[in-house]
Amino acid sequence: VQRKMSTLPRVYITRQIPPEGLKILRQSGEVQFELWDSDDTPVPRKELLKRVKGVDGLVCVLTEKVDAELLDAAGPNLKVVSTMSVGFDHLSLDELKKRGIRVGYTPDVLTDSVAELTVALLLTTSRRLIEATHEAKTGGWGTWRTLWLCGYELANSTVGILGLGRIGVAIAERLAPFKVKKFIYTDVVPRPELASAINAEYVSLDELSKQSDFLTVCCSLTPETKEICNRNLFSKMKNTSIFINTSRGGVVNQEDLFEALSTGQIAGAGLDVTVPEPLPINHPLFTLKNCVILPHIASATYTTRNAMSALAANNLLLGLRGEPMIKEIKQ
Ligand code: DGY
Repeated sequence: VQRKMSTLPRVYITRQIPPEGLKILRQSGEVQFELWDSDDTPVPRKELLKRVKGVDGLVCVLTEKVDAELLDAAGPNLKVVSTMSVGFDHLSLDELKKRGIRVGYTPDVLTDSVAELTVALLLTTSRRLIEATHEAKTGGWGTWRTLWLCGYELANSTVGILGLGRIGVAIAERLAPFKVKKFIYTDVVPRPELASAINAEYVSLDELSKQSDFLTVCCSLTPETKEICNRNLFSKMKNTSIFINTSRGGVVNQEDLFEALSTGQIAGAGLDVTVPEPLPINHPLFTLKNCVILPHIASATYTTRNAMSALAANNLLLGLRGEPMIKEIKQ
């Protein structure tokens, strides 16, 4: 039986998502979709508000604020929002809940790629690789020098994890073979099951700041974690410590971080996330040699981005069928 396109649930996709997800949606024959056919620019807000009118489902990425305005523009048909991200700080969960809209997201499939990138960023920052390649190619490389470009090593260090979830565990598993002496973590409550996998000790945020030689942020951005990394935290850190953030820029007070880095309060920082994104090229943090800034690429591998795309598509289809999603934010 050939179904008329017009009877199928309507879906708007806010970005040209990787091919796996689009293939799943096309082959399902269960939805008709329209997409913002670009990966270079996000859909302009005005256009988005227009396009979502009357849709049953929405597939979005982290650049779209899904708030009351957008949900009102979509109207009462909207049943499912599926974001191609593990982070959900761009979604107003309260507003979604109020309207009974189900929400899918993409945890797990990006854990490996994010953990790999976090380790890469940590080593890049602690061993000053960006400075080193710059010196090598711009004439700064004179004779071999005894303390030139020295950094800090993982062997015998204490690694602190702020927010212990899947990603924090995956990072610790990868760092352990570097002979880390001790893993410590903090969170709203102890997470003994996750912690036991990596032999991590639960400590207060205060102790985490004081003890960590490497402090890596792995929590979600929520009202509770907003700017949790601020002057108060940096001032307790050792001036030989390295700060790493691959979660969300909003967990850091960037002015305080700038001050901590520029005064030598801490040794270095590696950031994959900032506020805003992109970070303007004239931002003070870019002037610091001891700050490595990446353009939010932690999950950027072909395998992972396709897996995220596929999971977002499958979550959407399941949600529209009224079935349990593979990964759903339960509220
Ligand atoms: C996410 O999924 O939330 C990341 O920030 C992008 O992969």
